[in-house]
Amino acid sequence: MALILLHSPKGGVGTTTLAANLALMLASRGRDVVAADFSPQDSLKLHFGFRPDQTLASASRSDEAQVVAGVRVLGCNRPEDLADPVAAIRPWLGEGSMVIADIAAGGGETFRALLPSAALHLCALTTDAASLAVLPQLAAGRSFIAATTAQNSLFVLNQVDERRRLGRDAAKFLRRLVGDRLIGVIRRDEAVNEALAMMEPLSKFAPTSAAAADFIRFGDTIRELPALRPPVARNGADDAAIRA
Ligand SMILES: Nc1ncnc2c1ncn2[C@@H]1O[C@H](COP(=O)(O)OP(=O)(O)O)[C@@H](O)[C@H]1O
Ligand SMILES: [Mg+2]
Repeated sequence: MALILLHSPKGGVGTTTLAANLALMLASRGRDVVAADFSPQDSLKLHFGFRPDQTLASASRSDEAQVVAGVRVLGCNRPEDLADPVAAIRPWLGEGSMVIADIAAGGGETFRALLPSAALHLCALTTDAASLAVLPQLAAGRSFIAATTAQNSLFVLNQVDERRRLGRDAAKFLRRLVGDRLIGVIRRDEAVNEALAMMEPLSKFAPTSAAAADFIRFGDTIRELPALRPPVARNGADDAAIRA
């Protein structure tokens, strides 16, 4: 299994949007994916076409879990789930499946509880000053994301508008700061909001949009990371090739 934590010290940057679209993209590439909503905002489901008044199945009712476009969507934001986040997803931490956990900006305890089980964690940021102003907190380890110097701690820049100088400069600045650990840049695209309003996944509502293209690139980068590649099945032919 591979657990990926999506988080940010800043709310409203697109953590939930990234979690949903990453899950959908990985499922479209044939991976067995679980999307787990640990945020009290309860908005992950909207990206999969659920209505606001629909309740997602929790892990304890896993046989009822709803599957959308190959993603099993789980509600893990009840008080008992948040009290023991690992237990909330334990049935899904099986071999081969990828669990994408959407963690709220205030979800420090959830993040810390899941961290030891995580293959990697992705910190979402935007190009606005208020978002980038949290970077010194990360660097000083004052944020709950004290592990951000670790190699499995990666960054995604969302809502980038390359027509604006701040958008271009912020991307350049962040790349200089974290180097290859900036593994995704997603453009600001009204199609993201429109898809949400139409209660459809972005890849279905606007498959040719700029953000959909960015999510495909982002997902392909993620699935190629050594920590997430599925184990290669060894067989006789492989052994013969190795011997040759
Ligand atoms: N790339 C994007 N382009 C345009 N709007 C976006 C983009 N990413 C997110 N949004 C919008 O920003 C708002 C906040 O996104 P959300 O994923 O809920 O943030 P968070 O989980 O960090 O609070 C939503 O209205 C969402 O539609
Ligand atoms: Mg959110």
